[in-house]
Amino acid sequence: MYVVMGATGRTGHRIVHHLLQAGERVLALGRSESRLAPLAAAGAQVRAGEQTDPAFLAEAFRGATAAYTLLPYELSAPGYDAQQDRQGEAIVEALRRSGLREVVALSSLGADLAQGTGPIMSMRRQEQRLRAWADEDAGRNALALRAGAFMENFYGSLEVIKAFGFNGDAFDADYPLPMIAARDIADAAAGALLRRDWRGLSVRELLGERDLSYAQATRILGERIGLPELAYVRLEGGDALDALVQGGFAPDLAAQYVELAHTISAGRVRSLEGRNAGNTTATSFEAFAEELAQAYRAM
Ligand SMILES: NC(=O)c1ccc[n+]([C@@H]2O[C@H](COP(=O)([O-])OP(=O)(O)OC[C@H]3O[C@@H](n4cnc5c(N)ncnc54)[C@H](OP(=O)(O)O)[C@@H]3O)[C@@H](O)[C@H]2O)c1
Repeated sequence: MYVVMGATGRTGHRIVHHLLQAGERVLALGRSESRLAPLAAAGAQVRAGEQTDPAFLAEAFRGATAAYTLLPYELSAPGYDAQQDRQGEAIVEALRRSGLREVVALSSLGADLAQGTGPIMSMRRQEQRLRAWADEDAGRNALALRAGAFMENFYGSLEVIKAFGFNGDAFDADYPLPMIAARDIADAAAGALLRRDWRGLSVRELLGERDLSYAQATRILGERIGLPELAYVRLEGGDALDALVQGGFAPDLAAQYVELAHTISAGRVRSLEGRNAGNTTATSFEAFAEELAQAYRAM
């Protein structure tokens, strides 16, 4: 049995389907029976409960072969750091209580840095918790998948483009960064869960198909939505914060996001592995932009 957290989410639901297709039994976790129903119909066992409750997670993990874990959050909920720590601590507490020994944990590029990475700092702290857990017992193994920036983040750009006719964000226009589709993370995570070919706390990067700047990605998106001249404008300081809060971010998370954008734009978030065949994934931004364009047309 494999346990998948965030099973109704972008990476989780695809991992569930991969494991089912491989003939494995899957326990899909979420907070709502109704949102989990399609996964039950596909053949997964489902269980709804509070993901930050260690007792709920321990019960789910007990006797399982391996689990996929992540630190989900609501964009608009204040108190990002405290919520992330509550979630991360619950996962590790549940690992200890349940005796589960194999985990694939979604993390982020930049989790190696000790400061300046805003929302990624919580994933760094979770890697540290998992390392402490793995170090306690030679049979415990956790794989942290350090993903690049999700291409899905551009769904948030569509409202901006619709309203203002340009794309604006806090990132430098021309700094190329790894951008990855969530489906490629799911494919890598599912493969890792099935193979379990790592020991102790290990880290692997997932860098997408290639590095792209915000200006390049905006140009590709513009071509797909019939706005070939679509411009990207870097929003500075208060403008970036205001735009994010208007876009639904809680103020504390907006400030962290701007901090991260500055650190990335200054070139401080880097791949430690270097791009290679193993961490380069299939989905191009051109292909992903077709889906963004469909969503844009439906707005
Ligand atoms: N965005 C990026 O660029 C980036 C880069 C690197 C890493 N990441 C990591 O990727 C994670 C997101 O992964 P994903 O895209 O697979 O997840 P997702 O689509 O955001 O879904 C996560 C699922 O978790 C469940 N959930 C449980 N507790 C939740 C809570 N308190 N708030 C919100 N959802 C909750 C939700 O399902 P129910 O509502 O059905 O319970 C949701 O479907 C982020 O949390 C971040 O840690 C993101």
